[in-house]
Amino acid sequence: MSEIDYSKRSFNYYPTNAIVFSKCVGNRWSAPEVTNDFNFSLHCFAGVFHYAPSCFEGMKAYRGVDGRVRLFRPDENALRMESSARYLDMPAPSVEMFIDMCVKCVQENWDCIPPYESGASLYLRPVLFGINPQLGIKSAADVMFAVMCSAVGTYSGAKSLVPGAAVLSRNYDRAATYGSGGYKLGANYAQSLHAYNLAHKMGYRELLFLDSATHSHIEEFGSSNFFAIKHGCYITPNSPSVLPSITNKSLRKVAEEFGLKVERRTIFIDELETFEEVNSCGTAVVITPISRIDDKVTLESGTITREYRYGDVCGPVSEKLYKRIVGIQNGTEEDNYGWCMFVNDPK
Ligand code: PLP
Ligand code: COI
Repeated sequence: MSEIDYSKRSFNYYPTNAIVFSKCVGNRWSAPEVTNDFNFSLHCFAGVFHYAPSCFEGMKAYRGVDGRVRLFRPDENALRMESSARYLDMPAPSVEMFIDMCVKCVQENWDCIPPYESGASLYLRPVLFGINPQLGIKSAADVMFAVMCSAVGTYSGAKSLVPGAAVLSRNYDRAATYGSGGYKLGANYAQSLHAYNLAHKMGYRELLFLDSATHSHIEEFGSSNFFAIKHGCYITPNSPSVLPSITNKSLRKVAEEFGLKVERRTIFIDELETFEEVNSCGTAVVITPISRIDDKVTLESGTITREYRYGDVCGPVSEKLYKRIVGIQNGTEEDNYGWCMFVNDPK
């Protein structure tokens, strides 16, 4: 039995054994190294400190009911990092290198992987950022790729499937119409920090961003994608400024398995009124139900709040989707798609 009570963990940094890193200098990647030194030594003119040539990924290693350790669709994360790096015009690790270093990171931190019963998992954070000294506004020529991890519980800190309230972001946008929202850049999160702080101060768990051009339709939460259930349909926004979530992509398949119709389309704000169930989805949040969405609209007479309510318990369809996806990840459900990759015990 593990001495640590992983079931009490939230989504935070908790110390682990080691990280794995490699540098690409002059278009040549160095052999990956493992270190227990968690501090990087970087030149103060490294691009990452100035113009944010930086992207990252988020994935989890799950200890299954059978004791085996699985990564969920790591090839998808590798491809998304490749696409983020392409957007930033900087080098990226190959899919093979990305996966090998993630596997190495899991193996080096084997004793930090939470037990199945805890419901927690080992969150992997691969990061890629520019390291060459520069002053002019240029893409990074040289980069560091590092994979680090932390054993985490639920993103909200609440128990799984406990709904929380969200507010529409009327005064701040996450991503411009022709901007970088569809890529996993650190800069996109910097953009949302201030708005999040305000939302949290008002007591909201989540912030739901709108399209920046018209503020008339739903894009995504700052931490995750949006999906809703209505009349046997799984409905999720389709927009180039929304991050292509691997969880959402997988849920769309699972929804079809359950006979739901899947619609990826524009969702106007007024449609919020008609949804039976609303959720956020992503690696960190898994599926987190939304109990209520508030829309604070400023009129000449002052600010009014329109409330869209979805209930204080997770909806039945969302719960079914949750059980299936989490079941595939931890081996209690059959993985008919070959989504899981097993990681061998290094000993
Ligand atoms: N949208 C945003 C803004 C995110 O940060 C994340 C998390 O990675 C997601 C969506 C969900 O993506 P994924 O399911 O690939 O983790
Ligand atoms: C993830 O779900 O992996 C993310 O990167 C989202 C972030 C809010 C932790």
